[in-house]
Amino acid sequence: MQFAFVTTISHTLHTPHTPHTHDLHSTATPLPRPIAPGQPLTALAPMQDVTDLAFMRVIAHYGAPDCFVTEFFRVHAQSRPEKHILRSIDENTTGRPVFAQLIGGDIRHLTRTVTELLRHPVAGIDLNLGCPAPKVYKKNAGGGLLREPKKIAGILAALRDLIPGLFTVKMRIGFEDTRHYAEILDLINEHRIDMLTIHGRTVRELYRSPVRYDEIARAVARVRCPVLANGNITSAAKAAAVITQTRAAGVMIGRHAIRNPWIFRQCREQFSGKPVTRITLADVRDYIRRLYEATQTDVLTGAPIPEHAHVARMKKFLNFTGQSVDPEGAFLRDMRRATTAAALFAACDKHLLANPSATFSDEPHPGVIARPNCET
Ligand SMILES: Cc1cc2nc3c(=O)[nH]c(=O)nc-3n(C[C@H](O)[C@H](O)[C@H](O)COP(=O)(O)O)c2cc1C
Repeated sequence: MQFAFVTTISHTLHTPHTPHTHDLHSTATPLPRPIAPGQPLTALAPMQDVTDLAFMRVIAHYGAPDCFVTEFFRVHAQSRPEKHILRSIDENTTGRPVFAQLIGGDIRHLTRTVTELLRHPVAGIDLNLGCPAPKVYKKNAGGGLLREPKKIAGILAALRDLIPGLFTVKMRIGFEDTRHYAEILDLINEHRIDMLTIHGRTVRELYRSPVRYDEIARAVARVRCPVLANGNITSAAKAAAVITQTRAAGVMIGRHAIRNPWIFRQCREQFSGKPVTRITLADVRDYIRRLYEATQTDVLTGAPIPEHAHVARMKKFLNFTGQSVDPEGAFLRDMRRATTAAALFAACDKHLLANPSATFSDEPHPGVIARPNCET
């Protein structure tokens, strides 16, 4: 049953490369091949201040996604591609392709930046049409552009002309509502976008409201390119369910890959109908140590990060991981009090090594919130 379904998805994945779906201007650049042939694609979602080189390497250690996307390069009159983000492209040792994402609203500066980025070993260029941060959308970039389909059309036309290889878009379903959604999906077809990721919320809905998988299904039915479904893909089982519901070509996973870096490997198991690997609390302790070591130097200068700052950053990651450790959130409470590495690892040992073979829950425990007072 599962296998037959996967075959259907595989067909969907190859559809855009058949002559009847791409016109004569088709780039014909193949999409990254899934690690497991014929399976739906998986991608690690771009996350600012999270998905840097170190984090991508840690994720790859536990089971890489089929592809990565950088944090967004900010594009404006004075911008140059940020060096620390370039490192995640130039020094990529994950064995998997990396797309460079950019965010901006000015065609001149976007084209200048794309020209610079194409000198690096990128898998393709991804345009952000979803960021809900007011300082971004108020300048009509990111999610702000979803209010102006005509502006999107101009940007897509200019960038499509410039990009010889893969050009992808990551978008939400609208700004306030879905009034321009169909029109924007038609622009995706008109400008021959190679792959589209839909985060199934509006900009106004930020990060916590229910995800509109029905709207993702609408995009799958309307556009000719493969669509990746994004938003609250919490586990391999959920990934399979969302693919069944939306008929998307794959999934993009963000916060739940921070919580559970094994999720991409588990997706491959799930898609092939194999049992999904059970993760133990001892495995989670290993992840935390690896993440701590990988992130202890400044991504740009290589200088050691002061301990208190490093512990504070680790707590941002562990806020997600803690959602699956215990249903009462006791690990989260203890971990959040730590200000030194010793205190942080003491909390880890107390909760993760007391019963190391206990199971790390595939789904977040209900009611255990990653970051109270914060939308993510
Ligand atoms: C901390 C954080 C940073 C993010 N930064 C970006 C970004 O740079 N570019 C982008 O397109 N989306 C960004 N997003 C949105 C995610 O890529 C993704 O669309 C969203 O989190 C929903 O997916 P999830 O439920 O799997 O996390 C960010 C999300 C979070 C939580």
